[in-house]
Amino acid sequence: MKIDYQLKAASERRSEPFAPEGEVGFGRLRTDHMFLMDYRDGVWQDPRIVPYGSISMMPGAMCIHYGQSIFEGAKAFKHDDGEIYTFRLDKNAERMNNSADIVCIPNLDENLQQQAIHALIDVDRLWFPEQDGACLYVRPFIFATEDRLSVSPSQAYTFCVMLSPSGAYYKAGTDKAIRLLITKKFHRAVSGGTGASKAAGNYSASLRAAKEAAEYGAAQVLYLDSTNTQLEEVGAMNHFHVRKDGSIVIPKFTDTILKSITSLTILELGEVLGCEVRQETVMLNQFIADIESGEIIEAGGFGTAAVVSPVGSYIFEDGRIVTVGDGKVGKHIKNIYQVFTDMQLGKRTAPNGWLQQVKQTGV
Ligand SMILES: Cc1ncc(COP(=O)(O)O)c(C=O)c1O
Repeated sequence: MKIDYQLKAASERRSEPFAPEGEVGFGRLRTDHMFLMDYRDGVWQDPRIVPYGSISMMPGAMCIHYGQSIFEGAKAFKHDDGEIYTFRLDKNAERMNNSADIVCIPNLDENLQQQAIHALIDVDRLWFPEQDGACLYVRPFIFATEDRLSVSPSQAYTFCVMLSPSGAYYKAGTDKAIRLLITKKFHRAVSGGTGASKAAGNYSASLRAAKEAAEYGAAQVLYLDSTNTQLEEVGAMNHFHVRKDGSIVIPKFTDTILKSITSLTILELGEVLGCEVRQETVMLNQFIADIESGEIIEAGGFGTAAVVSPVGSYIFEDGRIVTVGDGKVGKHIKNIYQVFTDMQLGKRTAPNGWLQQVKQTGV
């Protein structure tokens, strides 16, 4: 792919490494540029890197009316050698196309998606925040742009990648255990629906449940399946629990659960973590009984943003609270977090191909 570079003038671009003094936060900042590419006349075309700014669209653009829009989320890290590396980006590109299939968006070559992200990071590499635990958060997305009001797949799309310099999710390791609301009132996904995709509409549909969780003093909701019997996901994370024998259990991927790249990675890391990691159908009644009997000793969520979010307790809509172990962050979760982040940061060898260096081209 030959990218057209339409960059800001040197005087308007960051010219020194970004060394933030205060907290950078998550998702707040932007870099100088973005990557764009359009789908027209049946082909993806016109790859370009342009200054970050508004995108003009007709009011009839189909993404606005019918939500034909999908996205991904990944992170790039700086290693001690001073180079920037992406982590398992091939999995994000593959999942982007799975999401595309689910909401009838044309696929975009997976190598090309990765090339676009690497090219943009290279251009804006000075934006990498020089701070402990910081990263460049990568947000690729595709949205429908055809100006038409009939409900049918759009004939035109834009693929965009933007970057957000972000700070460490935890200030001191996995320091806090959260509470989850077990909701029987709201559901994230149903079989045959769009739950296994990162379709924008899944996230607007989750806002009401998250609002209710806050009313219960919970950080997020634990979603059940539509029959209210099986565990599914935690907000925008996969759920997991740790049993007394140290084994880690993640609910089986179905068409109502997003295939988390963090979960996939933990599943492949079993040996390194020193425990068995498996997927099962997790029944709510058994799960609660196993927490109460001490058979389940830790629980939490897996996702790119935090890597692992420890859960200290669950609250039901009738106010009943169930505490996991002593309600604090357990040793298995601390170990998962350490091993995972050490790999991302190049402090521990990662399997071949997981980390890809962003080549310096001097643009
Ligand atoms: C619904 C949902 N589940 C799980 C995850 C975790 O996936 P990953 O580990 O790839 O970030 C995410 C975040 O992308 C999500 O939005």
